[in-house]
Amino acid sequence: MTMIGIVDLHSHILPYVDDGALRKEESDMLIGMLYSQGVRISCATPHLRKGMFETSDEDILKQFEKLEERTKASGNDIRMFLSREYHCDELFIEKLRQGKILPLGNSKALLIEFSQSHSIEDIEKYIKLVMDHGYAPVIAHIERYPVFKGQLDKVRQLADMGAYIQINAGSILGREGMRRAMRCRKLISEKAVHAVASDAHDPYDRPAELDRCYELIRKRYGEQTANELMYINPLKILGLLKGE
Ligand SMILES: [Fe+2]
Repeated sequence: MTMIGIVDLHSHILPYVDDGALRKEESDMLIGMLYSQGVRISCATPHLRKGMFETSDEDILKQFEKLEERTKASGNDIRMFLSREYHCDELFIEKLRQGKILPLGNSKALLIEFSQSHSIEDIEKYIKLVMDHGYAPVIAHIERYPVFKGQLDKVRQLADMGAYIQINAGSILGREGMRRAMRCRKLISEKAVHAVASDAHDPYDRPAELDRCYELIRKRYGEQTANELMYINPLKILGLLKGE
């Protein structure tokens, strides 16, 4: 059974802007995939990373408007938002200082990612910087960073500082190896995660697998946990939950 209403706050569904969807056909396939998996709110989060992905906000907005038009025409009733996945580097710091930031949904939350080489101290410094600028950091795919291996208390420390913790559906399902999957499952069972997202890049190698992931979480940790991680908390993070 597919859970209708999943909220996906991290994806690379826009074409021509980063290493996500290559062409508009792939982008449309990804949206169709998300819709058929029960997603009704989706956030496009193209990378912004110095020297690697520097597509301007203006250019991603153009692609976003086109995607919205095509999605409307296709009849897939999916609400879309545009934000970015900010890599923590000098370009991000510059954007923060200039106030040229695209937060997630209607909120002041920002999806941020780190390099494999960032230390815990670096990560804490960036979290503080983001919060000092009035934003709430959402740490993308925390399961990927070697510094957190077996360091559950460090993850909790970041959450205590005010960061939201996000993990990828594909990692939970074992797409990046069973060790990483076990790490994700430990984070879920220890209640150290706020949100699960697709981080979908293309329909083939890095697709959306949110329906399968919802089912896995529901079976292992219960329906309430699945709803919290894939519906309620993402809604809160996007600023879309009434009364929040
Ligand atoms: Fe991503």
